[in-house]
Amino acid sequence: MPRAIPFQIRPAIAADAPALAALSIQVWLATYATEGVSDLLARYVLEQFTPAAFTAWMEDADTALVVAEAGSHLVGYARLGFNAPQPLSPDIGTELCTLYVQEPFTRSGVGSALLDKACATIGERTGSDAMWLTVNTQNRRACAFYEKHGFARKGTTWFVLGEGCHENLVLARP
Ligand SMILES: CC(C)(COP(=O)(O)OP(=O)(O)OC[C@H]1O[C@@H](n2cnc3c(N)ncnc32)[C@H](O)[C@@H]1OP(=O)(O)O)[C@@H](O)C(=O)NCCC(=O)NCCS
Repeated sequence: MPRAIPFQIRPAIAADAPALAALSIQVWLATYATEGVSDLLARYVLEQFTPAAFTAWMEDADTALVVAEAGSHLVGYARLGFNAPQPLSPDIGTELCTLYVQEPFTRSGVGSALLDKACATIGERTGSDAMWLTVNTQNRRACAFYEKHGFARKGTTWFVLGEGCHENLVLARP
């Protein structure tokens, strides 16, 4: 049952970097470490989601970060990558690299609001609101979310982590 949670969407600022890193690790592990936290997964999240990485993204002209804030706490974010070609969707050059909502705040419209803001941000920058993304085929919730929001399948790709290959769908809109 959807809950009414007051939140606002805004561009990320430098001071958000530590909270974005912590939120990312929490959401990534909750989503993908379904059999516990292996050394491989631990190293991956600790290397990938650092405050320094978010600071670098904020300074990168080809990246946009928007956050969802409830009170003074971050509850989700979206990261966009511009000039990001995808062979399976060659006409679209903007990737929705990440869309994460902290679990207690899911199913409350936060993800949809972040997606709307991401769309508006792309429109301001490129004049089109088209974007592509990849999603793990096992991530049924996210697949349902993107399907509801009008994304269409363009093909499959693989996320390689250690010796594991994980099938991902490439989705795009429009
Ligand atoms: C996928 C995710 C971003 C959705 O964010 P959210 O804030 O829960 O989404 P919303 O509340 O805006 O939901 C919008 C719609 O998506 C669909 N949806 C969301 N959660 C769903 C679920 N558990 N089961 C089925 N449909 C779901 C519904 O159609 C929903 O509309 P409704 O609530 O009116 O039925 C969020 O669940 C998340 O961050 N998950 C973990 C990280 C992740 O998987 N990110 C995507 C990786 S590519």
